Amino acid sequence: MEKLRIVGGNKLSGSISCSGAKNAALPMLAATILTDQQITFKNLPYLQDITTMFEILGSMGAEITLNEGMNFIISTSKLHDFEARYELVKTMRASILVLGSLVARHGFARIALPGGCAIGTRPVDFHLDALAKLGAKIELKNGYIEATARKLIGCEINFPGVSVTGTENIMMAAVLAEGQTILRNVAKEPEVEDLANFLNSMGAKIRGAGSDEIIIDGVDNLSGTKFSIPADRIEAGTYLVAAAITGGDITISNVQAPRMNNILDKLKLSGASINISSNSIQLSMNRDSILPVDISTAPFPGFPTDMQAQFTVLNALSKGSSVVTENVFENRFMHVQELNRMGCDITVKGSNAFVKGVNSLNGAPVMATDLRASASLILAGLCADGETVVDRIYHIDRGYERIEEKLSYLGADITRLPS
Ligand code: UD1
Repeated sequence: MEKLRIVGGNKLSGSISCSGAKNAALPMLAATILTDQQITFKNLPYLQDITTMFEILGSMGAEITLNEGMNFIISTSKLHDFEARYELVKTMRASILVLGSLVARHGFARIALPGGCAIGTRPVDFHLDALAKLGAKIELKNGYIEATARKLIGCEINFPGVSVTGTENIMMAAVLAEGQTILRNVAKEPEVEDLANFLNSMGAKIRGAGSDEIIIDGVDNLSGTKFSIPADRIEAGTYLVAAAITGGDITISNVQAPRMNNILDKLKLSGASINISSNSIQLSMNRDSILPVDISTAPFPGFPTDMQAQFTVLNALSKGSSVVTENVFENRFMHVQELNRMGCDITVKGSNAFVKGVNSLNGAPVMATDLRASASLILAGLCADGETVVDRIYHIDRGYERIEEKLSYLGADITRLPS
């Protein structure tokens, strides 16, 4: 298994460009099933999760090509299998995103039931109940979800809890349904809005994405489109925290700062100096005067759970005590044990992590447990004394494009060790 070796102590400085957002790209790839015409994607990030979605689409009969402009062209006109197999689904829960599109366009989907995962039980009941309300017959057979519908019919759906992929799945199902669908208590994440913009560019009629209520007027068919994947706010946030904890000064270009306010506000409170221009963010920080900031995760516009582990490291190096509260997933503190092995002083009680700032960390061999936990271990390694080796980095490759290349470019001492 490949590992990342980091020798800590270098301040990060310089400029990098942000990649396309994984969480925007995945539902859009699933939405290619909704049309028999070609879709062209610009700025698709090179990530394992994207490859997994390609494998799922490819196994169903989609044709995926890369043109000379490095744009991906996808055609699902010859889809012959409407199934996402367990071997693929078990590596990426977001595979469930093909459910809505398959049922809407082909009347049938067979998707392996995603199991529990490292950060919590993560059920898919909101997706299934909402699809059933649209008229699909749902059966659970041999570890698979089987959904069948001759024609989905628009209706009003009140989600019992806020789910990002749940909202996206049902939006994709409803665009080809007969009549109007009103979705309430939906996720307001920017990636939901991105998906609505993408679907509207294919001819869908969606209003209200980004607010609590989404209204979808069903259409008979959708066309092809060309779309550029917006920047990854979590990737950008991760590099900004990396610069902050090393006392660095970096600029990230190709970002949309307004959708990062929840992250930038906390960075400012921690003492970072931040300059925002039309498509870039510059951050500088004095490593010796990081202030503790309490963090409490919540659906957008609240603080993103996907940035919780990284901010836990920032707090661990601050001049004081803070509380990090995880409200979205029930088991998302697995990085804490590994961080404590590097010298952090963090105690977890229920959904709270009580963090006491320390002056320095020591390098250590550590194990990545999930995507954002891996990012936090790399960040800790960047400012620890000596060498840190992060094992099981396949987690990081799921969501960060060329991370060691980007960090090296900013001056970090980081290398990928072959398995
Ligand atoms: C998405 C993101 C992930 C992010 C998460 C929360 C993608 C591909 N992934 O994951 O990076 O961490 O949003 O911002 O966009 N829940 C249920 N039943 C359901 C669905 C969800 O109880 O049917 C619960 C979950 O267990 C969790 C909460 O709702 O506690 C939010 O999860 P959800 O928003 O669905 O996360 P994902 O869409 O899987």
